Amino acid sequence: DDFDLAIRGGTVVTETQVFRADVGIRGGRIAAVGENLAGRQTIEADGLLVMPGGVDTHCHLDQVEPGMGYGAEDFVTGSRSALAGGTTTAISFVAQFKGEPIRDVLAETLRRGERSIIDYSFHQIVTDPTDAVLAEIPAIVASGIRSLKVFLTYDGARLDDRQFLRVLAAARREGAMVAVHCENYDAIGWLTEQLLAAGLTAPKYHAWSRPKVVERETTYRAIALAELVDTPIQVFHVSCAEVAEEIARAKRRGLKVWGETCPQYFALTAADMDRPGFEGSKAMCSPAPRDEADHEGLWEMMRQGVLDVVSSDHSAFNTTGHHAKDMHGRDASFRDIPNGVPGVGSRLPLLFSEGVVKGRIDLPTFVALTAANPARIYGLGGRKGTIAPGADADIVLWDPGKRVTLTNALLQHAVDYTPYEGREVTGWPVMTIRRGIPAMREGKLLAEEGSGRFLPRGPYDLARPLGRLANGFDAARAQLA
Ligand code: URP
Ligand code: ZN
Ligand code: ZN
Ligand code: ZN
Repeated sequence: DDFDLAIRGGTVVTETQVFRADVGIRGGRIAAVGENLAGRQTIEADGLLVMPGGVDTHCHLDQVEPGMGYGAEDFVTGSRSALAGGTTTAISFVAQFKGEPIRDVLAETLRRGERSIIDYSFHQIVTDPTDAVLAEIPAIVASGIRSLKVFLTYDGARLDDRQFLRVLAAARREGAMVAVHCENYDAIGWLTEQLLAAGLTAPKYHAWSRPKVVERETTYRAIALAELVDTPIQVFHVSCAEVAEEIARAKRRGLKVWGETCPQYFALTAADMDRPGFEGSKAMCSPAPRDEADHEGLWEMMRQGVLDVVSSDHSAFNTTGHHAKDMHGRDASFRDIPNGVPGVGSRLPLLFSEGVVKGRIDLPTFVALTAANPARIYGLGGRKGTIAPGADADIVLWDPGKRVTLTNALLQHAVDYTPYEGREVTGWPVMTIRRGIPAMREGKLLAEEGSGRFLPRGPYDLARPLGRLANGFDAARAQLA
């Protein structure tokens, strides 16, 4: 009994391989992958898939919304849902209040993270890149928050191009990745004005206010500006192939551009926002869910590796109460209903059921999209997202044939609904192991509040600039001087 724990007889899945092997764990890490491994504790995994725990690199947990307080999902409830759905690592966000320094909200968010049960890190949101705020970025990145997040739409959060360039430059100097929400602010504003003037206010008109071209234009523009500054970026929540095609073109040209999509873009459609009454608001997120035909295009982009990541974009808006979907009443216009759907727990089950079970993606692609790629893109490669000696022993034991009806209770999050209520999925996690500890078994939480660890992310090659500058002039450096 060499190992603390041996997982025996399962089928190990990595981003490149599927093979029968035992996994030996020591000191919270994977120590061996091989045959006839024995441990002081043994888990029999015959008939189960042994996959890396999910890495959810876009997850709004305990995030403050300026003017509204913290969202409904804290790190404890968010961790519980993550583990219930096979996820062991999340990257959430540190907000920025306009006109204020980052340091206070950063300190408070770090404190909140200490209750996490899964391992976690943060992206730093920048909404107001003044000289003073940009001067805070080097220390924030050096503390391990090696990614910045910007919004190119939303009142109160959006950056104009000039501001976006300033953030890209700061990221380039510090070797940080930039995650971008790409939709055209003015186009949405103009369309919204016309829809409301015409009396078209129901949730379904949310999709009409931001059609695909609105997302495609800004994706193109974000990529072009990132190319100008020579900063690696990831385009968040790509809704359809038409948008992903902009990322494909950038990749073909050798640019450091990565793409993310989310289950809501292959498991929901715009028609879900056309449910009676207020129900439609439960599927409301930005970008908007598209149509069935777009789902097929997204699968193709995942297979081709144009879209590298499926994250949840878990967003903590209840249907009623404080800062909720109905905060402006049940007849609120789409303009006033907060955007975002919960999904940290349903992410893996939906991708497995819709993707693997239906033959659209293979098992290694499932692991690449849910664990290996997100870990690599955000500087956690080798440590998270893989089953190999030296990696943290974050493992999900997955029953590929188990049929489950999704309910909000099963997902164990704090948000009071799931847009997938009543949906049948095939494939379900029976045990989620975090750093060698069984943290969730058959829906029962076994790990303690506060046992998750902050993951400081150091410099890594993938986030380094290419060194391709127009005219050889390093404007990002000049901006600092
Ligand atoms: O509608 C969405 N996606 N809400 C969450 C915040 C964001 O834009 O990622
Ligand atoms: Zn976004
Ligand atoms: Zn988001
Ligand atoms: Zn609130």
